[in-house]
Amino acid sequence: MKTISAVACLLAALGTAAAVMAPVARDATVAYNGMTCENNVPCNSIPMGLAPTVLSFKGNRDYERVLLGFDLPTSGLPRKCILHIPAAVDGARYNLTVSATDNDWDEATVTGANKDIAGFQVAAVEWPATSVDIKYACDESTRSKLSLWVDTVSGGVTFHSLQSGRADVFVLEYEL
Ligand SMILES: *[C@@H]1O[C@H](CO)[C@@H](O)[C@H](O)[C@H]1NC(C)=O
Repeated sequence: MKTISAVACLLAALGTAAAVMAPVARDATVAYNGMTCENNVPCNSIPMGLAPTVLSFKGNRDYERVLLGFDLPTSGLPRKCILHIPAAVDGARYNLTVSATDNDWDEATVTGANKDIAGFQVAAVEWPATSVDIKYACDESTRSKLSLWVDTVSGGVTFHSLQSGRADVFVLEYEL
């Protein structure tokens, strides 16, 4: 990572645009529902960040959101910021919104009970499109980090997470 951003900075200094493809650095499913899971444990208190998939679900009672965290260079705002959407695990046709949120969460421990639900929508993307411009979110990011909610408009959709070890995860493309 350090080498990549150093190269990006150098090329930016030379006036050459260098596109960086940054795979998601942290990702998690976060449940915001009043449901009870096994052993009477509230579902919204169970950390799911280290699972091999992330889920966005919107039903009558159930509500899960995909939370993504990316690392950005500590200096310089990206001129370009594109979120690349991987294929859903079962190839499902997704219909998603993307919202920017705070960076105050940890992948291993984040739950609906400890993560602020707030966010502001910056984009919408519908299958078969596989990328969406989120420059507004990058402009508003706190320089070194960017956190995003990815929400399904209805139903549910599952994606591979960072823990799957696969290449088809969410990726942020930026250019300094
Ligand atoms: C996707 O969601 C938008 C609302 O955000 C809606 O207008 C559109 O019809 C939906 N597309 C499909 C295929 O359901």
